[in-house]
Amino acid sequence: MNKVLLLGSGGREHAIADALKRGGAKIYAVMPHKNPGIAKLSQDYVVGPLSLGFVRELDWVKFKRVDFAVIGPEDPLIEGMADMLEDKGIPVVGPRKNAAIIEGSKEFMRDLMKKHSIEGFVDYFVFDSPSKVEEFLKDYDKPFVVKPVGVTGGKGVRVMGDHFKTKEEGIKYAKEVIEKKIGGVGRVIIEEKMIGEEYTLQVFTDGRELSGMPLVQDFKRAYEGDKGPNTGGMGSYSMENHLLPFITKEEYTKSMKILEDIIAALRREGRTYKGVMYGQFMLTAEGPKIIEINCRFGDPEAMNVLPILKTNFVDIAWSIIEGKLIKAEFMEKATVVKYVVPEGYGTPNPAKNEVIKVNEERIKREGALLYYASVDERGGKIYTTTSRSLAVVGIADNLEEAEKIAENALHHVSGRVYMRHDIAKKEMIEAKIRKMKELRGS
Ligand code: AMP
Ligand code: GLY
Repeated sequence: MNKVLLLGSGGREHAIADALKRGGAKIYAVMPHKNPGIAKLSQDYVVGPLSLGFVRELDWVKFKRVDFAVIGPEDPLIEGMADMLEDKGIPVVGPRKNAAIIEGSKEFMRDLMKKHSIEGFVDYFVFDSPSKVEEFLKDYDKPFVVKPVGVTGGKGVRVMGDHFKTKEEGIKYAKEVIEKKIGGVGRVIIEEKMIGEEYTLQVFTDGRELSGMPLVQDFKRAYEGDKGPNTGGMGSYSMENHLLPFITKEEYTKSMKILEDIIAALRREGRTYKGVMYGQFMLTAEGPKIIEINCRFGDPEAMNVLPILKTNFVDIAWSIIEGKLIKAEFMEKATVVKYVVPEGYGTPNPAKNEVIKVNEERIKREGALLYYASVDERGGKIYTTTSRSLAVVGIADNLEEAEKIAENALHHVSGRVYMRHDIAKKEMIEAKIRKMKELRGS
C-alpha cells in the first residue's frame, strides 16, 4: 500500500486526502491547524508549520518512510519543499522551486509568456521605484490593475473601477506596494485591465504531457453580487459537460494550448514542471487571456474536480512522478462548492476562535460532501480561525440540482459564520451568459 506524505490543512487538502484514500493510500499529514477531516483520514498526522526546517526533521522524511509526497499550498512549493524532499529520495507531486516560480513571481510568468510569444498575453510594466511608477502612470490612459510581484494569496491585487476609482488612488497603492514590500518584494506590476469572465483550468502534467480537468468558475469577492474585498475564494461551480455556460469547446482547447505552451517553454528553459498547473483565465472579447498561473490545485477548485475524478488519484500521482502521464477521467456531473467563513472574513477582524456547530450526519443525508478547511479542533469542538472554515459540495447531473444540494447542506452549519448564497444560482449564471454575449457583440 502506498504511504503518502500530505502537506496542508485547508479544504483543498481535505479533498486531496479524500482522493488519495479512495486510491488506496495511507496518509501521513502535516497540518498547520488540526483539520478534523484530514485527521480522520490519516494513518498519522502532526500539527506543525509547513516550513522546510520542520518537515525535514520528521521521521517520515528522515527515514524515508513514505513513498511519495503531495504538497497542497503554494508557499512550500515556491520555497523549494519539492527539492528538499526529492533530494532525500521522496518523489513529489508538485513542481520544484525553479518551476514553482511561475506562481512565485508574476513578473517571471509574464516575462516567460512574452519571451516565448505565448498567446493570452497582456500588456504589463514592472517598477521598483515609487517615482518611476508615478511618472509612468501619470501618462497612462487605459484602465489598469496594480499587482505586487510576489505572492499575496490573491488579496494584494487592486483593479481600477473595482477596488479603486481614480488614477491617483492607483498611483498611491502602487507606491505603497514598493515602499511596504507588499508580497515580499518591493516590485509592482501594472497591467492593462481586462474585461470579461474569469475561469479556472487545472491540468495534471509530467512536464511534457497534459491532462485537463473540468473548467471551474471561482468567486473571489467576499459578498453577494461579487462585491467586497478579494478573498481566497468563497465558492465555485463546474458543469456536467466540463465547460462553463459561457465558454465554447474551442475556447477550452485554446486555453489548454496556452498551458501546453507555458509548460513547453518552462521545459526549454530547463525547468521541468510536474504536478498540477492552475491557469486563471479571463475570457475576453479577443479570447482567453492569462491572469495568473498557480503551481497547485485551486482552493476551492480542487473540491469541484477531485470528488468526480474517476481515475485512481494514486495512479495519476505515480504517472506524474515517472514521467508517463495517464489521462484523468471525470464523471459527467455538475458540482457546486460553497464555503462557510467566519463573520468578517475579508476584513481585518474576522470572528476567530468561535465555535462552529456542524451536523455531519445531516449534511451527508442531504447528499452533500463536507470538507473542513482552516478550523481548529480542540476538545471535540470546532473553532474558527481567521481564514475559511469549511465547505460543502453538491454533486448532481446538472447545476441546478447541485446548487440545491449545497444550499440545503448549509442549513446544518451554525455559529458566527457567513456564506454567499448567490453562487451558481440560476440568475447569476444567466447574467454571466448575457455579459459574455454583449462583450462578443452577439
Ligand atoms: P490574481 O491574484 O493575479 O489572480 O488577481 C486577483 C484578481 O484580480 C483576479 O482574479 C482578477 O479578478 C483581478 N485581476 C488580476 N489581473 C487582472 C487584469 N489584468 N485585468 C482585470 N482583472 C484582473
Ligand atoms: N481559488 C483561487 C486559488 O486557489 O488561487
